Amino acid sequence: MGLFTKDIKNMDDLFIHQLKDIYYAEKRIVGTLPKMIDKATSSELKQGFEKHLNQTKNHVKRVEQVFELHGVAADTVTCPAIDGIIREADEVASDVDNKNVLDAALIAAAQAVEHYEITRYGTLIAWAKELGAEDCADLLDQNLEEEKEADEKLTRLAESSINRAVA
Ligand SMILES: [Fe+2]
Ligand SMILES: [Fe+2]
Repeated sequence: MGLFTKDIKNMDDLFIHQLKDIYYAEKRIVGTLPKMIDKATSSELKQGFEKHLNQTKNHVKRVEQVFELHGVAADTVTCPAIDGIIREADEVASDVDNKNVLDAALIAAAQAVEHYEITRYGTLIAWAKELGAEDCADLLDQNLEEEKEADEKLTRLAESSINRAVA
């Protein structure tokens, strides 16, 4: 994420940079989930992705509110980490023919995305609190809770899809 760029001079700059990074990531996820909904074969997995697509659209809005509360214009910075996770998801999903195995691959890819978001939101919340921006921390925490909930749902789906795949 270009952490050591010369533009970042203090914690506030760092917070804003990371906010731009998650804003970019959330927008990419909004663009990617429809493809994952298409590819998923189990109806439960499709529904899970659909629900998380709606939540993710709301994550974008909450991040925009955080920018506003923090007094800076909403903007993105390219996040190579999420680009890589999404590219890998595309590659893996296009290589799998067996539908139960495909679902397992999609779930694994989606969990990598959720874990990325969870780590970023955890850091952003800690930094927002350090900066005394409790209102920003609260909004970011709402996103974090939904990421954790999505991750747990995926774990449950993974267990049932793996059972089908090896049956
Ligand atoms: Fe999200
Ligand atoms: Fe998510």
